[in-house]
Amino acid sequence: MTTPWNQRYALRMQNMGSSLIRELLKITQDPEIISFAGGLPAPDVFPVKAFEEASCRVLRKHGSQALQYSATEGYLPLRRWIVDHMAAYGINANVDNILITSGSQQALDLIGKVMINPGDLILTEKPTYLGALQAWRAYQAEYTSIPIDNDGLQTEYLEEALCGGPKFMYILPNFQNPGGVTLSLERRLELIETADRYGIPIVEDDPYGELRYEGEHIPPLVVLDAQRQEGQPEFSNGHGFMRGNVIYISTFSKTLAPGLRLAWIVAPSEVINRCVMAKQGMDLHTSSFVQMTAYEVLKGDFFKNHVHLIRRVYDERRQVMLDALEQYFPPGTHWTHPQGGLFLWATLPQEIDTLALMPKAVENKVAYVPGSAFYPDGTGHNTFRLNFSNAKPEMIELGIRRLGQVVQAELNKRESPEMTFA
Ligand SMILES: Cc1ncc(COP(=O)(O)O)c(C=O)c1O
Repeated sequence: MTTPWNQRYALRMQNMGSSLIRELLKITQDPEIISFAGGLPAPDVFPVKAFEEASCRVLRKHGSQALQYSATEGYLPLRRWIVDHMAAYGINANVDNILITSGSQQALDLIGKVMINPGDLILTEKPTYLGALQAWRAYQAEYTSIPIDNDGLQTEYLEEALCGGPKFMYILPNFQNPGGVTLSLERRLELIETADRYGIPIVEDDPYGELRYEGEHIPPLVVLDAQRQEGQPEFSNGHGFMRGNVIYISTFSKTLAPGLRLAWIVAPSEVINRCVMAKQGMDLHTSSFVQMTAYEVLKGDFFKNHVHLIRRVYDERRQVMLDALEQYFPPGTHWTHPQGGLFLWATLPQEIDTLALMPKAVENKVAYVPGSAFYPDGTGHNTFRLNFSNAKPEMIELGIRRLGQVVQAELNKRESPEMTFA
């Protein structure tokens, strides 16, 4: 007798159907299609040689340790490196505040596992990172959301949303995925103050913070929160940092390579302890070999130089995309001007549905992600996300030209509807 599998799946699977968008994106694997859809870093800047040499050194010097089980918290020298790296970024933490994870996607899943009960409300930006929505849907989260503009989360809607009693807020302050916008310092301060007043924690997801191409660095929420806590009487002993309201996540996916699946959480040690327990049930620990090899690569000046290289390459691609949009996109279309990161966000006239337009784009050998995927409430039908890191400059130009033609053709259709006879 064959098992009727449908009757065996957990209820939570009902929220995890394969989306139409995911199906559409499969088509974009065709090498003839210029895809601005994925969030893929440029493979031509992956540090292949550095990893080849480092992995040989690790196997030669520490082979059996690298191939053995290891601590759930992560490889200690790598955690120490992250402590120093975070300090240079302004975040004051010690090793007890760091957990290495298998990608920041796992960090999001861990946070869901540790914090979300079925029916809990999570406050997100609108639009927001699709992978977080997916991860937390598995824990039966509900979403409430606040729109973003060019300065990020529109904080004037914050108090009203917080009155709904969300479990936590999920915020992407730097070069937001998908919007490409950055939360201003003024709004960061307002967000921190309001979160503290309502006692609602913040999950700060910051994969792109290192990849700024213009403008000044703005302190992360976790730093502003620590400064605020230190000013309060109970923390006047200087232990305000890592006692506050923010869980910070970052990753090596965009600065080294996503295939490593290597990221980290910075949080109060009590939160880290809970995440450690949850991670044990997921994968025991992140690959010892990968952690040790990454550490071997990171030692010395490599990281700083490599990030400089990436910034240069992505900045050029960003500029090519912005110029091409200016040249080829029809009047009435708008897009964000990201100061860093990997994405920009386009808005078309209201009457265009970018999901319905996607097959036309694919037919013309170009692809994007329809915006509605990033809206917890399914709105945003006239928007889409474009990635500028993956394609070479000449392909970006060609792809945006094709996309501009597709959008223009759609607008023309609407401006001259087929004649009807009453
Ligand atoms: C905002 C955000 N969070 C998390 C992730 C997942 O990254 P990782 O490769 O570290 O799992 C991404 C990847 O694109 C992202 O954009």
